[in-house]
Amino acid sequence: MSDPSTSHLDELAVSASTNGQTNADDKPRVEGVEVPQPAGGHAPEQPTLEIKNLHRFFGKLKAVNNVSFRAYAGQVMGFIGPNGAGKTTTMRIIATLDLPTAGDAFVCGHSVVDDPEKVRRVIGFMPDSFGKYSNMDVVEYLDFYARAYGFKGEERREAVERVLIFTELRKIADKPIKNLSKGMSQRLGLGRTLIHDPQVLVLDEPAAGLDPRARVELRELIHLLAVEMNKTVLISSHILTELGEICDSAAIIEAGQILVHGTIEELKRHKPKKSEGTHTGEPIAVSVVSNSTELRKWLLEQPYVSHVALAANRVVFEFAGDEDARAELLRRMIEQKFRVTEFAAKSETLEDAFMAITEGLVQ
Ligand SMILES: Nc1ncnc2c1ncn2[C@@H]1O[C@H](COP(=O)(O)OP(=O)(O)O)[C@@H](O)[C@H]1O
Ligand SMILES: [Mg+2]
Repeated sequence: MSDPSTSHLDELAVSASTNGQTNADDKPRVEGVEVPQPAGGHAPEQPTLEIKNLHRFFGKLKAVNNVSFRAYAGQVMGFIGPNGAGKTTTMRIIATLDLPTAGDAFVCGHSVVDDPEKVRRVIGFMPDSFGKYSNMDVVEYLDFYARAYGFKGEERREAVERVLIFTELRKIADKPIKNLSKGMSQRLGLGRTLIHDPQVLVLDEPAAGLDPRARVELRELIHLLAVEMNKTVLISSHILTELGEICDSAAIIEAGQILVHGTIEELKRHKPKKSEGTHTGEPIAVSVVSNSTELRKWLLEQPYVSHVALAANRVVFEFAGDEDARAELLRRMIEQKFRVTEFAAKSETLEDAFMAITEGLVQ
């Protein structure tokens, strides 16, 4: 976290005022793939966040190199990549704090290049480090930001109250900022971002340095913002596991370029490039009480089975047969008196996918 005495007024979209867009009420698609829609969902809406061929060069360094992706109302999108990948640079452009070398980004249809004022009304940006004005207490801090956003009188009081309640900071409203824990201070940072009730939230590494409890609490707040309040949340991290449970889609960036994006389920299914040609089925894991070595040998002789690997009492293999063949395999396994405790599709982790996608160049 930054030096608490530092003020980052440049991070504040000073000219922004209240409420922009009305909310779209469905969750359509990520790059051509259907994202589950609520019952009664209708035709896909326009994306609330659209990055189009974005470039940002610093001299010869291509910090952002042709980045494109979209996110929709009600969606939490992870922006995952190692340090230096270009996440902050992209996010600062979306927040109108920097301009692209080429390309554009649209927030609720407004261009960050042509219409930055309109973008600021509908976006909330939480930088990775921000000034805390340590001589203020919680409520003064939020009130300060509400003033900066042009709220007056009762409207300002209401805006501050709404944020205090949502972030559960009400009970410590009078606490000096310098006495807040890391988790509480991240909540305050998120609260500040929400003061003008933006439709799109851009959060730069908000979970960095949080303890597990604070992380779970942050996750719950983000979930509420997307699911209950139908906002779009773009959230970055260089730690993959931090985001797996928060996001329903993700874009993986490395050296300024998007390597892959899609729903979390799609990313988990992503196969390593090197084994694409030799991939011969879906992974299955079988656990047995004993005799796993014999099971491995037996499996090697069975139809549709390949890539058999053994780990303690668990055998993992690829199976290319259909459901019938799979049921038959299990039946014969039991007939052979293997004492099976588990027979299931091996769930692939997001980490497996990330390692496969980035080919170990990162992390
Ligand atoms: N203002 C700048 N001037 C020069 N290089 C920069 C500037 N901002 C970022 N960079 C460089 O751009 C690359 C991407 O940085 P950044 O977007 O901060 O990555 P990330 O947030 O993914 O860690 C890095 O190599 C960084 O050093
Ligand atoms: Mg960064």
